[in-house]
Amino acid sequence: MKKIAILSGDGVGPEVAAEALKVLQAVDKKYGIGFEFKHELIGACAIDATGDPLPPATVERCQRSDAVLLGAVGHPRFDNDPAAKVRPEQGLLKIRKTLGLYANIRPIKSYKSLYKASPLKESLIANVDFVVFRELTGGIYFGEKGRRCGGSEAFDVCAYSVEEVERIARLAFAAAQNRRKHLTLVDKANVLETSRLWREIAGKTSKDFPDVKFDSMFVDNAAMKIVQQPAFFDVILTENMFGDILTDEASAITGSIGVLPSASVGSGVALFEPIHGSFPEGAGKGIANPMAAILSAAMMLDYLGCPEAAQEVQAAVELALKNGVATPEISKDSAVSTGEVGDFIAGNI
Ligand code: IPM
Ligand code: MG
Repeated sequence: MKKIAILSGDGVGPEVAAEALKVLQAVDKKYGIGFEFKHELIGACAIDATGDPLPPATVERCQRSDAVLLGAVGHPRFDNDPAAKVRPEQGLLKIRKTLGLYANIRPIKSYKSLYKASPLKESLIANVDFVVFRELTGGIYFGEKGRRCGGSEAFDVCAYSVEEVERIARLAFAAAQNRRKHLTLVDKANVLETSRLWREIAGKTSKDFPDVKFDSMFVDNAAMKIVQQPAFFDVILTENMFGDILTDEASAITGSIGVLPSASVGSGVALFEPIHGSFPEGAGKGIANPMAAILSAAMMLDYLGCPEAAQEVQAAVELALKNGVATPEISKDSAVSTGEVGDFIAGNI
């Protein structure tokens, strides 16, 4: 039996999570995994219900589960209020920290049926297939922050320890060994001391992976390279904030942010979520693409030791794309609804 905590969250989160669930149920029928799904609150909906973006019941449930599937977190109601005391995103950051999810793995893959939707020329986007290892529980996101000088100055500290860098570097190098054996460290070592530590530790770690070609690149240059020659990359290793920014950029070049999944792993239970946000304007309209959530479920199947089922889900998503069974941002003239995309994919398991 596998216990799965479902944190649907806000905006389109519940809609896309429902489709991922549908597909997991189809997988369960075929493979007899014996899933037990339990729903808990996170984000704006949790604030509304309990005042807390990450209620203790959610944390406890996640800690007792084999994996966590998350929809999306966030609501504009909080974005436009700089004085808000609680924010939905605090729930997301806290669950990452509490579960020790230090590595966020974001595969960036171009699909043939999406080449036309890409803002890049087909010759540039064809065959792009890389993965970003973004550090997720350190850096400027979690450093000391506050106001000083009577509130007229604000600060956010970026700090990293050797251990924090080394553990994700090892994961990323090991992943590169199973791919095209090329790892690029993205940093700002010409300016930042933390980046110089990343360079030192990644360089040392690379000695244990002699078959992996190791290079490093400044983040501004990497931002350019992602649009000029994305096929250059195989594995990108980077710190928290650079990873946040670069993965949004990288997702945009594939043609739809609605097809990109992610896995966050650490020492214990792992969490799987689409890269996209809560897309509140799209909520309740049946227009959100559930593919990223479904592919996140596929990554979860892989993690739970069911690689065959994972591949089958991946293939069913690709079949949907090939047949144009997709939401409006992909299938402009013949779009189907969120639920119909899920039905098609589940039906092909
Ligand atoms: C992401 C998101 C989050 C982040 C936000 C919602 C806090 O942008 O998962 O990339 O910045 O990590
Ligand atoms: Mg982001």
